[in-house]
Amino acid sequence: MTKASAPGKIILFGEHAVVYGEPALAVPVTQVQAEVRIDKIFSPGIRLNAPSIQLNEKLEALAPTHPLAATVRNTLHALETEPPSSIAILIRSSIPVASGLGSGAAVSVAIIRALAKHMKKTLTDEQVSALAFETEKLYHGTPSGIDNTVITYAKPVYFVKDQPIELLHVKKAFAIVIGDTGVPASTKESVRDVRVQHHKKPERYETLFAAIGSIVKTARQLIESGMPESFGPLMDENHALLRSMKVSSPELDNLVEAARKAGALGAKMSGGGRGGNMIALVPPGKSGAVSRALKEAGAVNTIVTKVA
Ligand code: MEV
Repeated sequence: MTKASAPGKIILFGEHAVVYGEPALAVPVTQVQAEVRIDKIFSPGIRLNAPSIQLNEKLEALAPTHPLAATVRNTLHALETEPPSSIAILIRSSIPVASGLGSGAAVSVAIIRALAKHMKKTLTDEQVSALAFETEKLYHGTPSGIDNTVITYAKPVYFVKDQPIELLHVKKAFAIVIGDTGVPASTKESVRDVRVQHHKKPERYETLFAAIGSIVKTARQLIESGMPESFGPLMDENHALLRSMKVSSPELDNLVEAARKAGALGAKMSGGGRGGNMIALVPPGKSGAVSRALKEAGAVNTIVTKVA
């Protein structure tokens, strides 16, 4: 039996603009995980079992564009080895799907690492991330690559599309409360809608992307110089810019407002938007009050995560 796991993620700053070349900051969320287990079985072939989506099929029965099947096939190809026979790949995840927490990328990374381990082969983080990126394209159309990167490296990152990874050096730890609207939302659709709007109003959207990019750079400086408590207002600004890009939603705005009223230093939606999760920066001792306020305002779940 072989096992591998991968964490979820949140985007602190810069979603959507990152698809157009602006930087973004993302951190892993270890409280939620995708887990993959490979067992030897009697029947020949490779069986994929993902109970949460009622999938229990042989690999050969799945279409080339099926994200889980594509991940397995691409990984076996990259491992340059005879495919294993008589194995079952069991996929489980506590990361809510379509919620902005990177569930697709985390499942891919866990499958890739479990297969490599099972075949007693080594893949570098760069290879793992590149393989997961191939599947991200099936899920999201034109992803920036930030999800597979932060989840593979499992460390805070300063990410620019098509550039080598840069780690984000967190000088002083800070706490983030994550609130789930419970509304599933497709990143593929929100990314596509932004693309359509960008096409219609290129100047307006370029200005919005650039404004987000400069927020990201300032936030990075504050985090790397040990002043995390001062980036709250930047979250509020980033949220306002995402609202003008029409990727927020009434549910997200409501939770963002509730977090601010309960003492958060700043709050914003996180990820593709239109639903899914929002995040709030909380001062020491306030995470319980902000979590409670989010639940009272309708959040179906909250997670407190420490970024260090
Ligand atoms: C998704 O986690 C973040 C987006 O910026 C899309 C992407 O970067 O691929 C919305």
